[in-house]
Amino acid sequence: MDSETQGFYEAEARRYREIHSRPLLRYSSELEQEFISPFLPSTGRTLDVGCGEGRTTRHLANVVKGLVVGADFSPAMVQQARYAADSASLFYCVADAGKLPFRENSFHVVTAMTTLNNVPDLRQAIAEAARVLVPGGVLIATVINSAEAARFVRGIYFGPYYLYRWLRGNRSGMIRRIYSREQLLEAVPPRLEVLSCEGMRVVPDFLPEYPFNFWPALHPAAAWTYGLLRPLDVKLSRHPITGRFARFHLLIARKR
Ligand SMILES: C[S@@+](CC[C@H](N)C(=O)[O-])C[C@H]1O[C@@H](n2cnc3c(N)ncnc32)[C@H](O)[C@@H]1O
Repeated sequence: MDSETQGFYEAEARRYREIHSRPLLRYSSELEQEFISPFLPSTGRTLDVGCGEGRTTRHLANVVKGLVVGADFSPAMVQQARYAADSASLFYCVADAGKLPFRENSFHVVTAMTTLNNVPDLRQAIAEAARVLVPGGVLIATVINSAEAARFVRGIYFGPYYLYRWLRGNRSGMIRRIYSREQLLEAVPPRLEVLSCEGMRVVPDFLPEYPFNFWPALHPAAAWTYGLLRPLDVKLSRHPITGRFARFHLLIARKR
């Protein structure tokens, strides 16, 4: 477990819902829901590892009938998720992705949405997810791609903002590790069969995230633009060439 990263999320937890209500994050959530829905059963037990304030956990509870558990190593995040819980089948707990407090073969679906970018040991976290899955159960994970094409564009827009934060001594403290598709697939143990590992989100990353996605007056225009670009984004995300440079890898793997 990474205490610096944990401290960062503890401090960010109260702002997290507001951040996730911004147009780009809302767009990402909707895209994610579209991409993962074919892999969600109608019934079963589900676990969302690194659930944050619970956006995916709530979606799972809406779609899959049965127990839904959200786990996060930040107590403040878990508290935020509990405030926002809107279903009686939702439970939250504080837990480390590297050592989940569940028995083997407990869940039919395990999700980990950008959580694996924070864990110190990628293999261990994927192995833990595999351990708690029932045979035939599915792991769904999004992982920030080290090859994302728009990183340099974002650097240009975010440069002044990061400089401002740095000058104020307000450094993030969060450790994020990014992975190529090959590095991610190498960390998947043989007990998981990879069903797919495609890209997700290409086009919006070429738009100026700052201030487009930050300044509330621009939010309606941002949401409209993201919505307009979505069909193209889905195509490019799924394309074998452009998908390799998407913002996220979407890994779907089934326990043998
Ligand atoms: C980038 S946020 C994503 C939150 C949520 N999955 C989402 O997509 O909205 C990463 C989350 O993973 C949690 N996290 C990071 N490392 C973790 C670990 N080792 N064990 C459990 N949770 C962890 C953080 O506290 C944070 O809430």
